[in-house]
Amino acid sequence: MSKGKALLNWVDERFPLSSMMKEHVTEYYAPKNFNFWYFFGSLAMLVLVIQIVTGIFLTMNYKPDAASAFMSVEYIMRDVGGGWIIRYMHSTGASMFFVVVYLHMFRGLIYGSYKQPRELVWVFGTLIFLCLMAEAFMGYLLPWGQMSFWGAQVIVNLFGSIPVIGPDLSVWIRGDYVVSDATLNRFFALHVIAVPLILLALVVAHLIALHEVGSNNPDGVEIKKNKDPITHIPLDGIPFHPYYTVKDVLGVVVFLIVFSAILFFAPEGGGYFLEAPNFDPADPLKTPAHIAPVWYFTPFYAILRAIPSFLGTQVWGVLGMGAAVVLIAFLPWLDKSPVKSVRYRGPKFKIALVLFVISFIGLGILGALPSTDVRTIVAQVLSFIYFAFFLAMPFYTKNDVGSIPVPDRVTESTPARQVRFVLLWALTLAGSVLFVMYV
Ligand code: HEM
Repeated sequence: MSKGKALLNWVDERFPLSSMMKEHVTEYYAPKNFNFWYFFGSLAMLVLVIQIVTGIFLTMNYKPDAASAFMSVEYIMRDVGGGWIIRYMHSTGASMFFVVVYLHMFRGLIYGSYKQPRELVWVFGTLIFLCLMAEAFMGYLLPWGQMSFWGAQVIVNLFGSIPVIGPDLSVWIRGDYVVSDATLNRFFALHVIAVPLILLALVVAHLIALHEVGSNNPDGVEIKKNKDPITHIPLDGIPFHPYYTVKDVLGVVVFLIVFSAILFFAPEGGGYFLEAPNFDPADPLKTPAHIAPVWYFTPFYAILRAIPSFLGTQVWGVLGMGAAVVLIAFLPWLDKSPVKSVRYRGPKFKIALVLFVISFIGLGILGALPSTDVRTIVAQVLSFIYFAFFLAMPFYTKNDVGSIPVPDRVTESTPARQVRFVLLWALTLAGSVLFVMYV
């Protein structure tokens, strides 16, 4: 027996290494028809690792103190060897995390990956999304720039509008009557250790739940229903390693090219990843002319602003914004369609999905702009569409099946499908540009 094999045996007698590798990698049978949408799960893991590693190095020089936080970030950017790239990897990485996770969630939406038996995969995913939002929000306070300070001030004040407990709750969150050194200290503690720990645990739970039931695929066919009678291996399944490890490496390379291009040529993302006022130190006496959250929060922020105050309280906007996130978790139970993948759904779901994408992108754009009367009305219409997508789902998905029946086995990609795919993206892009020009 070779030395390597002997060592592996020694480990296996004490720790189930080989059996875990088999169960989750070499003998995890994934559907053979994964497409480009299936890159984003592994990319989310990559970005998570990038954020943790760069975060550790940032923490070595960052000072969680209102008097020195801003300067410590400047010190990292100018004096610490390689500090600038570590900082930009982390700040741009936050935006990339949301790009990747939004696309990952959208994949779930188009292929019905949240439907039975993957409800828990989805619920864990939604919890991850919530944690990610909390993590990004608290991280943004740390550079102690103008937008860090005023963004946190606006968002924490929202809790103050909750009846009865609101005012005390916002003081409790801040640890003070205004955003202050105490707030910075606790956000630092939560950002560097508490939330990342929860996030990691949730990602593990997400993957355990996924591997328990097996992956969905672009056809929404359950591959476990068609097994080889002798080997009991799904006929449409291929081992995750080497097939998908190799495929995922391609995704990683393309992602790193795009990520590097942004890092080297536009690390602030044109003011969308790091906003201009954040290059000024926090000044509690000078409110910026226009306070807007970072782009990944803007769809939800636009919903908040679109809902008017009623009965003398602004709490409805806060509740609406919370509901917009929480509703995502209920998709497995709102969707009554007998079909998973959009490929085999009827026209009602397809129309609803297009309207939903338009509303989400539109709200995202509006949330980044100062509000005007016209924009508020547009945001109200788009918020209505956003909520209708979820709340009307039990009705429009019932019996909404397409003309092509769901096949028994997974299908192969066709040129027509590929052309449709490119056209859809080109249309989405063109639509977004036109919308920005109009509003
Ligand atoms: C840190 C964030 C996340 C990480 C690291 C992560 C990781 C993964 C990985 C590695 C997979 C398997 C590969 C794949 O199907 O792409 C996966 C599948 C899945 N994820 Fe996530 N995920 C994250 C966030 C989310 C969120 C926010 C949601 C939804 C709310 C979600 C929903 C799903 C679903 C439904 C699947 C199964 C997809 C299928 O089988 O078609 N994930 N995730």
